[in-house]
Amino acid sequence: MAKTPLRVAVTGAAGQIGYSLLFRIANGDMLGKDQPVILQLLEIADEKAQKALKGVMMEIDDCAFPLLAGMTAHSDPNTAFKDADVALLVGARPRGPGMERKDLLEANAQIFTVQGKALDAVASRNVKVLVVGNPANTNAYIAMKSAPSLPAKNFTAMLRLDHNRALSQVAAKTGKAVKDIEKLTVWGNHSPTMYADYRFATVDGQSVKDLINDQEWNANTFLPTVGKRGAAIIEARGLSSAASAANAAIDHVRDWVLGTNGKWTTMGVPSDGSYGIPEGTMFGFPVTTENGEYTIVQGLEIDEFSQERINLTLKELTEEREGVKHLLP
Ligand code: NAD
Ligand code: LMR
Repeated sequence: MAKTPLRVAVTGAAGQIGYSLLFRIANGDMLGKDQPVILQLLEIADEKAQKALKGVMMEIDDCAFPLLAGMTAHSDPNTAFKDADVALLVGARPRGPGMERKDLLEANAQIFTVQGKALDAVASRNVKVLVVGNPANTNAYIAMKSAPSLPAKNFTAMLRLDHNRALSQVAAKTGKAVKDIEKLTVWGNHSPTMYADYRFATVDGQSVKDLINDQEWNANTFLPTVGKRGAAIIEARGLSSAASAANAAIDHVRDWVLGTNGKWTTMGVPSDGSYGIPEGTMFGFPVTTENGEYTIVQGLEIDEFSQERINLTLKELTEEREGVKHLLP
């Protein structure tokens, strides 16, 4: 019997990430090749943005996706998020050259207060929320705090792009295939302070740390490359990453919904106090997922270097949170 369609709300649907994301969702890449979807697309009320959204919807129509069971355009989050099973909060102002993601805090915080309230009012009680818009961790925290009647665990931030970037760098360094690398993670904030950690990673059963055996490369090449990759792409393209960001959003939600079969991935999730991260802090952790729920991997040893890096990224997140305190209920 055919499955009941799931409602997927996407904000910023006429933006660059939206243009790489929507077609893949409608193609079944995110929720499965047997799962019909209804797209509920939100853009700002501005005439140009709504017109651009109509154009994207025409193109989606023209793909005649068999799994697409409906599609609507919105300028009000209270209609866009109605009964949403999945909400991808992409819409926000991106940074330009020379800016840090936290420079977007004030401009974007307002958006996530309004959208958190709307999710609280109208979305499915089981809605899975992924925040992509930057600064993603703090925006996810704001949305979560603005939606007190929804479980906090339903709100997540995107660290998957950092995770995928780290995978790709480790594959290049070791000469191994990405698909064979397991147990990699990225701790903390989606910002240059993130801590990409391959100490537990294996490839074909071998320790990645032993294979690389180069702490100088870790500290001075690997971490800065992964941490500053977003800026490098802005510098090269004149625009922030879009297709790789959309791909990471698909990976994040697919793994959350369909499970990782015991494998690790990275998600930004509200801390439950694990590893000394204060409860509620939206933090990148290693997780496994099963039956639509994620679990933070427990019991990992945190050595002195790792603790320093984790403290640094936590400090930044704490400062960001302080900076938006006045906006929260
Ligand atoms: P973009 O400017 O191309 O598109 C953003 C779209 O959002 C625009 O069409 C805009 O009209 C819309 N928008 C703005 N405010 C909105 C609101 N309140 N409601 C609905 N729509 C709204 O930007 P983009 O390149 O698609 O990037 C979107 C966001 O994603 C940026 O914040 C960017 O920094 C972030 N990003 C995050 C990651 C990550 O790994 N977490 C990766 C890449 C980009
Ligand atoms: C990225 O990491 O590519 C995005 O967060 C965009 C940015 O501003 O770096």
